[in-house]
Amino acid sequence: MKILIVYATSEGQTRKIARFMEEVLQSENHSVVIADASEDPPTPEKFDAVLIGSSIHIQKYHSSIKHYIMKNLDELNKIHSAFFSVCMAIASDIEEEHEEAKNIALEFMEKTGWKPDAISHMAGALKYTQYDYFKKLIMRMIAKKEGGSTDTSKDHEYTDWDAVRSFVLDFAK
Ligand SMILES: Cc1cc2nc3c(=O)[nH]c(=O)nc-3n(C[C@H](O)[C@H](O)[C@H](O)COP(=O)(O)O)c2cc1C
Repeated sequence: MKILIVYATSEGQTRKIARFMEEVLQSENHSVVIADASEDPPTPEKFDAVLIGSSIHIQKYHSSIKHYIMKNLDELNKIHSAFFSVCMAIASDIEEEHEEAKNIALEFMEKTGWKPDAISHMAGALKYTQYDYFKKLIMRMIAKKEGGSTDTSKDHEYTDWDAVRSFVLDFAK
């Protein structure tokens, strides 16, 4: 299959996940094109399937991903497609946090009109070394509340790579 992966990221974790998906799909002999939503990505027409992913920042997905979906809505609703949402709430032990993240995705689909065949929620990372002073402070507070690491001297990754692999292999089937 010819598969397109379009992603939007701030600190790079969603790009890392998209690249991992690319590797998994290529190892299954699929042909994969991967593109950043903010860098004029290809349209879905020439592909058999499309994976679209974005991280959540302050309860919102990136505007570049929303723009891509709105621009290609008719085509996306015709072909096999899936969305992967990357955030910290999914790494939390608090069930309400998971529900909130899932509702952000559902509202996003309602607003855009996109009906992907699957939606996957993936835990992201705390990239303390990339945050400025205030971001570090806020993210440390959020991490404390949600059970993430408060050690700001290094980054902490929460992505479950086996779950990402299963999701992408299921999608390709
Ligand atoms: C400024 C900021 C705001 C964030 N807001 C949320 C949020 O509202 N909900 C959430 O679950 N995670 C939130 N996160 C966590 C990110 O989704 C997480 O760090 C993710 O791995 C970022 O992926 P990216 O590197 O691809 O942008 C936020 C992170 C930052 C730095």
